[in-house]
Amino acid sequence: MSYETITVEQRDAVTLITLNRPKSLNALNSQVLDDLIDAFGKFEADASQRCAVLTGSGDKAFAAGADIKEMSEKAAADFYLDDFFGKWTSEIVKKVRKPWIAAVNGFALGGGCELAMMADFIIASENAKFGQPEIKLGVAPGMGGSQRLTRAVGKAKAMEMCLTGRMMGAEEAERANLVARVVPQDDLLDEAMKSAALIAGMPPMAAVANKEMVNAAFETGLDQGIIFERRLFQILTASEDKAEGMAAFIEKREGNWKGR
Ligand code: HXC
Repeated sequence: MSYETITVEQRDAVTLITLNRPKSLNALNSQVLDDLIDAFGKFEADASQRCAVLTGSGDKAFAAGADIKEMSEKAAADFYLDDFFGKWTSEIVKKVRKPWIAAVNGFALGGGCELAMMADFIIASENAKFGQPEIKLGVAPGMGGSQRLTRAVGKAKAMEMCLTGRMMGAEEAERANLVARVVPQDDLLDEAMKSAALIAGMPPMAAVANKEMVNAAFETGLDQGIIFERRLFQILTASEDKAEGMAAFIEKREGNWKGR
């Protein structure tokens, strides 16, 4: 798998995708979008792959935002009619049902922060910095930042970050529930890959169902969310992997998953 702006590597059942424009701090241009859509599409379609990790190359940035040089040449009609930023959500979030983790190493700003927040969860290195500084460019978040950041950290911090462009460090981000875990910079990739391998070793139907039901908490009221959860639970009880998982527990052995 060869791409212009990313690298993709399969390590057993985990796909590692690395944003690879270190000279521009992995700024997200149209080519990155095309490459990511292709890579995530292949990950989703490949039954041997069960979890993905997305990270940035270099030690400075996950992604310092949408590519400002590319954006500076576009008019409102280009953004609106092409719906460039809409495609990130429709192609990378909505179509990918398998779990994936963002391993944030350094700056995750603007679209970079928004891309990280599209992941199922974020593991951050100690030098990670999150921010929505679009206001300083005369714009605003356009890939879900105002919504996902607010849902994650609440109104006070989200509003402050969007209005002032202030960056949030890793420790604060963990306290504010933006990230699942903070790890030393040197351990980031290992830790993210370990988490991904753990998830990849889970029964596949249960992994997708767990992701769907947690995400439903952001889309529905409590009653509907609980019904959705119970229905998925009930569907899982009919799976071969439920019988195998429970038998494996009783027989004190590892489960051998069929994905059925
Ligand atoms: C294009 C970028 C870039 C970006 C950095 N670079 N961010 N190029 N788009 N978003 C480039 C710089 O131009 C520079 O290239 C090289 O990367 C290194 O960056 P420096 O600024 O020299 O590094 P440093 O001084 O360490 O500062 C790091 C930084 C700063 C604080 C992250 O680069 C920065 O503020 N970047 C912009 C962050 C930002 O505003 N992001 C939001 C973008 S808007 P050269 O060629 O000069 O060496 C957005 C909208 C999305 O994301 C939502 C949809 C509407």
